[in-house]
Amino acid sequence: MTISYHPLGDEELVFRQAFNHHLPLLIKGPTGCGKTRFVEYMAQALKLPMWTVACNEDTSASDLVGRYILKGNETPWIDGPLTQAVRQGGICYLDEVIEARQEALVVLNALADHRRQLFIDKTNEVLHAPAHFMLVVSYNPGYQSVMRDLKESIKQRFVAVRFNYPAIELEQTIIAGESGCSLALARALANFGASSRKMAGSGLFEGVSTRMLIHAAMLMSHKTGQQNLLEAALIDPVTDEPTIRASLLALLPLVMAAVHM
Ligand SMILES: Nc1ncnc2c1ncn2[C@@H]1O[C@H](COP(=O)(O)OP(=O)(O)O)[C@@H](O)[C@H]1O
Ligand SMILES: [Mg+2]
Repeated sequence: MTISYHPLGDEELVFRQAFNHHLPLLIKGPTGCGKTRFVEYMAQALKLPMWTVACNEDTSASDLVGRYILKGNETPWIDGPLTQAVRQGGICYLDEVIEARQEALVVLNALADHRRQLFIDKTNEVLHAPAHFMLVVSYNPGYQSVMRDLKESIKQRFVAVRFNYPAIELEQTIIAGESGCSLALARALANFGASSRKMAGSGLFEGVSTRMLIHAAMLMSHKTGQQNLLEAALIDPVTDEPTIRASLLALLPLVMAAVHM
């Protein structure tokens, strides 16, 4: 199945150039704006296998590199996703990399610079990444705090692309394409998304994402046209704050009208 992707800017060129020159890529952007989809699309375009790791605060070096696993009387070594990608060549995509434990990030140092080496201390191996290996990481700078930021020494090893939510026309195309809804509904949802993002701040973190707008279009797909379905897709996931809820609810009639167009 071909993966569809609508470019936001020149991210494909940056990705290809980084890949050609064996440089790792850092993708920054809010949640649900197309980062993962873009990497999946590029993996397909470059005909590369892809390993994805959704990092969280428990993600350790072993989760990336591998570990000995108890199996009956034996303890065979099992490669982690990063090691598999380095051995076989392909893209290793670490989503929300900033969440991972510090010791996991340290592993990336030698892999992300000109050495392109992965040290596996437990097996005493040093792997050299092949030309068609690429490290891609992403994170949402919105979550960033002084406590949680990538070290400057890590950041500076990467080429970076900044993502943001698409402009209204493009988001309309994406919503309609992904959900199969009418262009009128897609437009109304894109407008809702843009308005919600203007309210980002206290009570609403960064507004309603492209992903959520697609969910809303899906729930509306049979013209059931129930406002509570829109609330479930567009408002309830992201805010409980009464004033923000009221402002977002006030925008729903415009979307409802488009459902019946
Ligand atoms: N530029 C785009 N082209 C096609 N689909 C997109 C695009 N941006 C977002 N989407 C849709 O939005 C969904 C969420 O995007 P995703 O890549 O998972 O977001 P992120 O990784 O930034 O959180 C995707 O599954 C896809 O349906
Ligand atoms: Mg993602």
